Amino acid sequence: MDLKKFVAIVPDWPKEGIKFKDITPLMADGEAYKYATDQIVTYARERKVDLIVGPEARGFIIGCPVAYSLGVGFAPVRKEGKLPRETIKVDYGLEYGKDVLTIHKDAIKPGQRVLIVDDLLATGGTIEATIKLVEELGGVVAGIAFLIELTYLEGRSKLENYDIKAILNY
Ligand code: PRP
Repeated sequence: MDLKKFVAIVPDWPKEGIKFKDITPLMADGEAYKYATDQIVTYARERKVDLIVGPEARGFIIGCPVAYSLGVGFAPVRKEGKLPRETIKVDYGLEYGKDVLTIHKDAIKPGQRVLIVDDLLATGGTIEATIKLVEELGGVVAGIAFLIELTYLEGRSKLENYDIKAILNY
């Protein structure tokens, strides 16, 4: 299936010069959404993962159906002030801005094999920060899966020591 047909490219959003990749048409099409999810599920099985971790908000959209399909748990990584119990946090840089990411301190059991899932790899800042959180809690990053990789931003260079799967490349 040609999944690129279901990604709308929005010029100059949210800022001038950014070509935003809108995945809502893909999510709106049951067959396309399932097809994309199943590819990540296959990868997750190969990597023998026992927990999915995804950063808000679009990491939830891609990561949660993968967790459901595998019958494993999902741990949310959220921006500061959103998680109600004890957290650890890390600062990170974005393609367009800066922020803090957090995870619940008890979200990962030491030694658990974690698949990090997000909709998009741009500069890699979000995933670099998510890796730090997972590893600080003793999780093993068994793989990282994206729906979309913006190859020209070279985010992958920040993730050299990790196994990466991207479904679509731009
Ligand atoms: C977007 C996207 C990725 C991240 C990629 O999320 O969903 O998580 O940016 O950029 P990077 O590789 O340069 O870090 P955003 O922070 O906009 O949050 P959202 O999903 O809540 O919209």
